Amino acid sequence: MAKYLVTGGAGFIGLNLVHQLSASGEKVTIYDSFVTGKKKHLRELPKDVKLIEGDILDAKELRKCTRNVDYMIHLAGLNSVLRSIKDPVESLQVNATGTLNALMAGRDAKIKRFIYVGSAAAYGESPSLPKVETMIETPLSPYAVSTIAAENQCRVFFNTYGLQTVILRAFNAYGPFQDPTGPYAPVVAKFIATLVDGKAPVISGDGKQSRDFVHVADIIEAIKSACIAPKAEGELFNIAGASRITINGLVNMLNGILGKEIQPKYEEARPGDIRHSLADITKAQEMLGYRPRTSIVDGLANAVEWYRKNK
Ligand SMILES: NC(=O)c1ccc[n+]([C@@H]2O[C@H](COP(=O)([O-])OP(=O)(O)OC[C@H]3O[C@@H](n4cnc5c(N)ncnc54)[C@H](O)[C@@H]3O)[C@@H](O)[C@H]2O)c1
Repeated sequence: MAKYLVTGGAGFIGLNLVHQLSASGEKVTIYDSFVTGKKKHLRELPKDVKLIEGDILDAKELRKCTRNVDYMIHLAGLNSVLRSIKDPVESLQVNATGTLNALMAGRDAKIKRFIYVGSAAAYGESPSLPKVETMIETPLSPYAVSTIAAENQCRVFFNTYGLQTVILRAFNAYGPFQDPTGPYAPVVAKFIATLVDGKAPVISGDGKQSRDFVHVADIIEAIKSACIAPKAEGELFNIAGASRITINGLVNMLNGILGKEIQPKYEEARPGDIRHSLADITKAQEMLGYRPRTSIVDGLANAVEWYRKNK
Protein backbone atom coordinates (compact mmCIF):
# COMPACT_ATOMS: atom_id res chain seq x y z
CA MET A 1 0.00 0.00 0.00
CA ALA A 2 1.42 3.40 -0.99
CA LYS A 3 0.58 6.82 0.37
CA TYR A 4 -0.63 9.46 -2.12
CA LEU A 5 -1.12 13.18 -1.64
CA VAL A 6 -3.47 14.52 -4.32
CA THR A 7 -3.51 18.32 -4.50
CA GLY A 8 -6.69 19.50 -6.20
CA GLY A 9 -8.20 16.12 -5.28
CA ALA A 10 -11.69 17.59 -4.99
CA GLY A 11 -11.70 18.64 -8.65
CA PHE A 12 -12.66 16.76 -11.79
CA ILE A 13 -9.50 14.74 -12.48
CA GLY A 14 -8.73 14.55 -8.75
CA LEU A 15 -12.03 12.91 -7.74
CA ASN A 16 -11.71 10.29 -10.48
CA LEU A 17 -8.16 9.56 -9.35
CA VAL A 18 -8.95 9.44 -5.63
CA HIS A 19 -11.84 7.02 -6.23
CA GLN A 20 -9.58 4.70 -8.22
CA LEU A 21 -6.66 4.83 -5.81
CA SER A 22 -8.74 4.27 -2.74
CA ALA A 23 -10.65 1.41 -4.44
CA SER A 24 -7.25 -0.26 -5.02
CA GLY A 25 -6.46 0.01 -1.29
CA GLU A 26 -4.02 2.93 -1.47
CA LYS A 27 -3.87 5.55 1.30
CA VAL A 28 -5.00 8.90 -0.05
CA THR A 29 -4.97 12.45 1.26
CA ILE A 30 -6.67 15.28 -0.61
CA TYR A 31 -5.33 18.82 -0.30
CA ASP A 32 -7.77 21.32 -1.81
CA SER A 33 -9.05 24.84 -1.22
CA PHE A 34 -12.42 24.19 -2.91
CA VAL A 35 -12.08 27.22 -5.13
CA THR A 36 -13.55 25.14 -7.97
CA GLY A 37 -13.77 21.70 -6.34
CA LYS A 38 -17.12 20.69 -4.89
CA LYS A 39 -17.58 19.43 -1.32
CA LYS A 40 -20.80 17.61 -2.25
CA HIS A 41 -18.83 15.01 -4.24
CA LEU A 42 -16.68 14.14 -1.23
CA ARG A 43 -19.67 12.45 0.43
CA GLU A 44 -19.28 9.58 -2.06
CA LEU A 45 -15.65 8.96 -1.10
CA PRO A 46 -14.63 6.09 1.19
CA LYS A 47 -14.20 7.14 4.85
CA ASP A 48 -10.47 6.41 4.90
CA VAL A 49 -9.70 9.17 2.36
CA LYS A 50 -8.25 12.05 4.37
CA LEU A 51 -9.22 15.60 3.51
CA ILE A 52 -7.19 18.70 4.25
CA GLU A 53 -8.69 22.03 3.30
CA GLY A 54 -5.85 24.33 2.38
CA ASP A 55 -4.48 26.63 -0.27
CA ILE A 56 -1.62 25.54 -2.51
CA LEU A 57 -0.16 29.01 -1.92
CA ASP A 58 0.06 28.25 1.81
CA ALA A 59 3.46 26.53 1.69
CA LYS A 60 3.57 25.94 5.45
CA GLU A 61 0.21 24.15 5.60
CA LEU A 62 1.05 22.08 2.51
CA ARG A 63 4.34 20.94 4.02
CA LYS A 64 2.50 19.50 7.02
CA CYS A 65 0.68 17.05 4.72
CA THR A 66 3.68 15.47 3.04
CA ARG A 67 5.00 13.36 5.92
CA ASN A 68 5.56 9.73 4.77
CA VAL A 69 3.98 10.46 1.38
CA ASP A 70 5.22 8.23 -1.47
CA TYR A 71 3.62 9.97 -4.45
CA MET A 72 2.37 13.51 -4.90
CA ILE A 73 -0.10 14.03 -7.74
CA HIS A 74 -0.32 17.76 -8.28
CA LEU A 75 -3.70 18.74 -9.75
CA ALA A 76 -4.46 21.92 -7.80
CA GLY A 77 -4.72 24.60 -10.43
CA LEU A 78 -6.94 27.07 -12.23
CA ASN A 79 -7.89 25.31 -15.40
CA SER A 80 -9.36 27.91 -17.72
CA VAL A 81 -7.97 29.97 -20.58
CA LEU A 82 -10.75 32.53 -20.20
CA ARG A 83 -10.25 32.88 -16.46
CA SER A 84 -6.53 33.45 -17.01
CA ILE A 85 -7.22 36.18 -19.57
CA LYS A 86 -9.48 37.93 -17.04
CA ASP A 87 -6.95 37.53 -14.21
CA PRO A 88 -3.47 36.55 -15.40
CA VAL A 89 -1.90 37.23 -11.99
CA GLU A 90 -4.20 34.78 -10.20
CA SER A 91 -3.52 32.02 -12.76
CA LEU A 92 0.23 32.52 -12.63
CA GLN A 93 0.26 32.53 -8.84
CA VAL A 94 -1.84 29.40 -8.38
CA ASN A 95 -0.47 27.39 -11.31
CA ALA A 96 3.19 28.42 -11.19
CA THR A 97 3.92 29.49 -7.60
CA GLY A 98 1.53 26.80 -6.36
CA THR A 99 3.49 24.17 -8.26
CA LEU A 100 6.74 25.56 -6.85
CA ASN A 101 5.32 25.19 -3.31
CA ALA A 102 4.22 21.63 -4.06
CA LEU A 103 7.64 20.73 -5.50
CA MET A 104 9.47 22.14 -2.48
CA ALA A 105 7.21 20.23 -0.10
CA GLY A 106 7.72 17.02 -2.10
CA ARG A 107 11.48 17.47 -2.29
CA ASP A 108 11.84 18.11 1.45
CA ALA A 109 9.63 15.13 2.33
CA LYS A 110 11.79 12.91 0.05
CA ILE A 111 8.77 11.52 -1.78
CA LYS A 112 9.31 8.86 -4.47
CA ARG A 113 7.72 10.71 -7.38
CA PHE A 114 5.92 13.94 -8.17
CA ILE A 115 3.41 13.88 -11.04
CA TYR A 116 2.31 17.18 -12.58
CA VAL A 117 -0.61 17.30 -14.99
CA GLY A 118 0.19 20.09 -17.43
CA SER A 119 -1.79 21.13 -20.47
CA ALA A 120 -1.74 20.87 -24.25
CA ALA A 121 -2.39 24.62 -24.19
CA ALA A 122 1.42 24.84 -24.01
CA TYR A 123 1.63 24.01 -27.74
CA GLY A 124 -0.40 27.15 -28.49
CA GLU A 125 -0.37 28.53 -31.99
CA SER A 126 2.16 26.18 -33.58
CA PRO A 127 0.26 24.95 -36.67
CA SER A 128 1.84 21.53 -37.13
CA LEU A 129 -0.07 18.42 -36.17
CA PRO A 130 0.23 16.10 -34.39
CA LYS A 131 1.87 17.81 -31.43
CA VAL A 132 5.09 16.15 -30.34
CA GLU A 133 6.73 16.73 -26.96
CA THR A 134 9.88 18.12 -28.60
CA MET A 135 8.06 21.07 -30.20
CA ILE A 136 8.81 24.56 -28.93
CA GLU A 137 5.96 25.98 -26.86
CA THR A 138 4.15 28.98 -28.31
CA PRO A 139 1.58 29.90 -25.64
CA LEU A 140 -1.55 31.87 -26.56
CA SER A 141 -2.87 32.58 -23.08
CA PRO A 142 -1.71 33.38 -19.55
CA TYR A 143 -3.02 29.92 -18.61
CA ALA A 144 -0.63 28.30 -21.10
CA VAL A 145 2.26 30.42 -19.78
CA SER A 146 1.48 29.37 -16.21
CA THR A 147 1.47 25.66 -17.06
CA ILE A 148 4.75 25.97 -19.01
CA ALA A 149 6.28 27.68 -15.97
CA ALA A 150 5.05 24.81 -13.79
CA GLU A 151 6.47 22.23 -16.21
CA ASN A 152 9.83 23.98 -16.24
CA GLN A 153 9.91 24.02 -12.46
CA CYS A 154 9.34 20.25 -12.50
CA ARG A 155 12.32 19.87 -14.85
CA VAL A 156 14.49 22.05 -12.61
CA PHE A 157 13.55 20.09 -9.51
CA PHE A 158 14.55 16.90 -11.29
CA ASN A 159 17.81 18.25 -12.71
CA THR A 160 18.86 20.32 -9.72
CA TYR A 161 17.47 18.55 -6.67
CA GLY A 162 17.02 15.01 -8.00
CA LEU A 163 13.28 14.97 -7.22
CA GLN A 164 11.69 12.44 -9.57
CA THR A 165 9.16 14.52 -11.48
CA VAL A 166 6.98 13.37 -14.37
CA ILE A 167 4.98 15.80 -16.51
CA LEU A 168 1.80 14.61 -18.19
CA ARG A 169 0.63 17.11 -20.78
CA ALA A 170 -3.10 16.37 -20.88
CA PHE A 171 -5.23 17.29 -23.89
CA ASN A 172 -8.97 18.04 -23.50
CA ALA A 173 -10.20 15.84 -20.67
CA TYR A 174 -13.85 14.97 -20.07
CA GLY A 175 -15.90 12.48 -18.07
CA PRO A 176 -17.61 12.02 -14.68
CA PHE A 177 -17.26 14.80 -12.08
CA GLN A 178 -16.57 17.51 -14.67
CA ASP A 179 -18.43 20.63 -13.54
CA PRO A 180 -20.82 22.02 -16.19
CA THR A 181 -21.65 25.19 -14.24
CA GLY A 182 -20.17 28.67 -14.19
CA PRO A 183 -18.59 30.92 -16.80
CA TYR A 184 -15.45 28.76 -17.13
CA ALA A 185 -17.10 25.36 -17.57
CA PRO A 186 -15.29 23.11 -20.06
CA VAL A 187 -16.94 22.46 -23.38
CA VAL A 188 -18.03 18.81 -23.03
CA ALA A 189 -19.66 19.18 -19.60
CA LYS A 190 -21.27 22.48 -20.61
CA PHE A 191 -22.71 21.09 -23.85
CA ILE A 192 -24.06 17.95 -22.15
CA ALA A 193 -25.87 20.05 -19.53
CA THR A 194 -27.24 22.43 -22.18
CA LEU A 195 -28.46 19.70 -24.52
CA VAL A 196 -30.02 17.64 -21.69
CA ASP A 197 -32.00 20.78 -20.79
CA GLY A 198 -33.18 20.98 -24.42
CA LYS A 199 -31.27 24.21 -25.08
CA ALA A 200 -28.91 25.14 -27.92
CA PRO A 201 -25.21 24.97 -27.06
CA VAL A 202 -23.26 28.11 -27.94
CA ILE A 203 -20.11 27.52 -29.98
CA SER A 204 -17.33 30.12 -29.91
CA GLY A 205 -16.17 30.64 -33.50
CA ASP A 206 -17.25 28.55 -36.51
CA GLY A 207 -17.13 25.20 -34.73
CA LYS A 208 -14.57 23.89 -37.21
CA GLN A 209 -11.83 24.09 -34.61
CA SER A 210 -10.84 20.61 -33.50
CA ARG A 211 -9.81 19.04 -30.21
CA ASP A 212 -8.17 15.83 -29.10
CA PHE A 213 -10.53 14.71 -26.34
CA VAL A 214 -9.37 12.24 -23.73
CA HIS A 215 -11.61 10.42 -21.27
CA VAL A 216 -10.56 10.95 -17.67
CA ALA A 217 -10.22 7.18 -17.10
CA ASP A 218 -7.32 7.19 -19.57
CA ILE A 219 -5.66 10.11 -17.75
CA ILE A 220 -5.96 8.20 -14.47
CA GLU A 221 -4.23 5.18 -16.02
CA ALA A 222 -1.44 7.47 -17.25
CA ILE A 223 -1.01 8.99 -13.78
CA LYS A 224 -0.78 5.56 -12.17
CA SER A 225 1.81 4.41 -14.73
CA ALA A 226 3.79 7.65 -14.34
CA CYS A 227 4.25 6.86 -10.63
CA ILE A 228 6.05 3.60 -11.28
CA ALA A 229 7.26 3.42 -14.91
CA PRO A 230 11.06 2.95 -15.08
CA LYS A 231 12.97 5.89 -16.56
CA ALA A 232 9.89 8.15 -16.68
CA GLU A 233 11.42 10.60 -14.20
CA GLY A 234 12.41 13.94 -15.69
CA GLU A 235 10.25 13.28 -18.77
CA LEU A 236 7.20 14.93 -20.33
CA PHE A 237 4.44 12.91 -22.04
CA ASN A 238 1.42 13.83 -24.13
CA ILE A 239 -1.70 12.18 -22.77
CA ALA A 240 -4.61 12.26 -25.18
CA GLY A 241 -7.12 10.26 -27.17
CA ALA A 242 -4.87 10.62 -30.23
CA SER A 243 -7.77 11.48 -32.54
CA ARG A 244 -9.59 14.73 -33.00
CA ILE A 245 -13.10 15.92 -33.68
CA THR A 246 -14.44 19.38 -34.43
CA ILE A 247 -16.66 21.20 -31.96
CA ASN A 248 -19.50 20.93 -34.51
CA GLY A 249 -18.80 17.18 -34.57
CA LEU A 250 -18.96 17.07 -30.78
CA VAL A 251 -22.45 18.63 -30.81
CA ASN A 252 -23.60 16.11 -33.46
CA MET A 253 -22.25 13.22 -31.43
CA LEU A 254 -23.92 14.39 -28.22
CA ASN A 255 -27.20 14.96 -30.08
CA GLY A 256 -26.93 11.37 -31.35
CA ILE A 257 -26.29 9.96 -27.85
CA LEU A 258 -29.16 12.00 -26.38
CA GLY A 259 -31.55 11.29 -29.26
CA LYS A 260 -31.92 15.01 -29.99
CA GLU A 261 -31.44 17.27 -33.00
CA ILE A 262 -30.69 20.62 -31.39
CA GLN A 263 -28.83 23.06 -33.62
CA PRO A 264 -25.99 25.03 -31.97
CA LYS A 265 -25.76 28.81 -31.88
CA TYR A 266 -22.53 30.59 -32.77
CA GLU A 267 -20.75 33.50 -31.13
CA GLU A 268 -17.46 35.25 -31.80
CA ALA A 269 -14.30 33.16 -31.44
CA ARG A 270 -12.60 33.53 -28.05
CA PRO A 271 -9.13 34.99 -27.65
CA GLY A 272 -6.47 32.55 -26.48
CA ASP A 273 -8.21 29.51 -27.99
CA ILE A 274 -6.08 27.29 -30.18
CA ARG A 275 -7.43 26.27 -33.59
CA HIS A 276 -6.58 22.59 -33.84
CA SER A 277 -5.21 20.06 -31.43
CA LEU A 278 -4.03 16.50 -31.89
CA ALA A 279 -1.41 14.61 -29.91
CA ASP A 280 1.34 12.26 -30.88
CA ILE A 281 1.28 9.75 -28.01
CA THR A 282 4.14 7.53 -29.18
CA LYS A 283 6.37 8.46 -26.25
CA ALA A 284 3.70 7.69 -23.64
CA GLN A 285 2.90 4.43 -25.43
CA GLU A 286 6.52 3.35 -25.39
CA MET A 287 7.59 4.52 -21.93
CA LEU A 288 4.38 4.42 -19.87
CA GLY A 289 2.57 1.63 -21.72
CA TYR A 290 -0.21 4.20 -22.21
CA ARG A 291 -3.19 3.34 -24.43
CA PRO A 292 -6.29 5.51 -24.79
CA ARG A 293 -8.86 2.76 -24.18
CA THR A 294 -12.06 4.81 -24.18
CA SER A 295 -13.48 5.67 -27.60
CA ILE A 296 -15.01 9.12 -27.90
CA VAL A 297 -18.52 7.69 -28.41
CA ASP A 298 -18.31 5.41 -25.36
CA GLY A 299 -16.65 8.14 -23.31
CA LEU A 300 -19.30 10.74 -24.13
CA ALA A 301 -22.08 8.22 -23.39
CA ASN A 302 -20.44 7.59 -20.00
CA ALA A 303 -20.22 11.34 -19.29
CA VAL A 304 -23.87 11.82 -20.27
CA GLU A 305 -24.93 8.93 -18.00
CA TRP A 306 -22.99 10.40 -15.07
CA TYR A 307 -24.48 13.83 -15.66
CA ARG A 308 -28.05 12.50 -15.79
CA LYS A 309 -27.58 10.67 -12.48
CA ASN A 310 -25.91 13.61 -10.75
CA LYS A 311 -27.55 16.76 -12.09
N1 LIG B 1 -9.47 19.06 -17.48
C1 LIG B 1 -8.63 19.20 -18.49
O1 LIG B 1 -9.01 19.09 -19.67
C2 LIG B 1 -7.16 19.47 -18.23
C3 LIG B 1 -6.30 19.42 -19.32
C4 LIG B 1 -4.97 19.69 -19.11
C5 LIG B 1 -4.51 20.00 -17.85
N2 LIG B 1 -5.35 20.05 -16.80
C6 LIG B 1 -4.80 20.43 -15.49
O2 LIG B 1 -5.08 19.42 -14.54
C7 LIG B 1 -5.31 20.01 -13.26
C8 LIG B 1 -6.68 19.56 -12.74
O3 LIG B 1 -7.66 19.95 -13.66
P1 LIG B 1 -9.21 19.67 -13.44
O4 LIG B 1 -9.84 19.63 -14.78
O5 LIG B 1 -9.41 18.54 -12.50
O6 LIG B 1 -9.65 21.05 -12.75
P2 LIG B 1 -10.68 21.32 -11.57
O7 LIG B 1 -10.91 22.79 -11.54
O8 LIG B 1 -11.87 20.43 -11.66
O9 LIG B 1 -9.84 20.88 -10.29
C9 LIG B 1 -8.81 21.66 -9.76
C10 LIG B 1 -8.86 21.51 -8.25
O10 LIG B 1 -7.81 22.32 -7.71
C11 LIG B 1 -8.34 23.04 -6.61
N3 LIG B 1 -7.60 24.28 -6.48
C12 LIG B 1 -7.58 25.34 -7.32
N4 LIG B 1 -6.82 26.32 -6.82
C13 LIG B 1 -6.33 25.87 -5.64
C14 LIG B 1 -5.51 26.43 -4.64
N5 LIG B 1 -5.05 27.68 -4.75
N6 LIG B 1 -5.19 25.69 -3.56
C15 LIG B 1 -5.68 24.43 -3.42
N7 LIG B 1 -6.50 23.85 -4.32
C16 LIG B 1 -6.82 24.57 -5.41
C17 LIG B 1 -9.80 23.31 -6.95
O11 LIG B 1 -10.60 23.59 -5.83
C18 LIG B 1 -10.19 22.01 -7.64
O12 LIG B 1 -10.69 21.06 -6.73
C19 LIG B 1 -5.22 21.52 -13.45
O13 LIG B 1 -3.96 21.98 -13.07
C20 LIG B 1 -5.41 21.70 -14.94
O14 LIG B 1 -4.77 22.84 -15.43
C21 LIG B 1 -6.68 19.78 -16.95
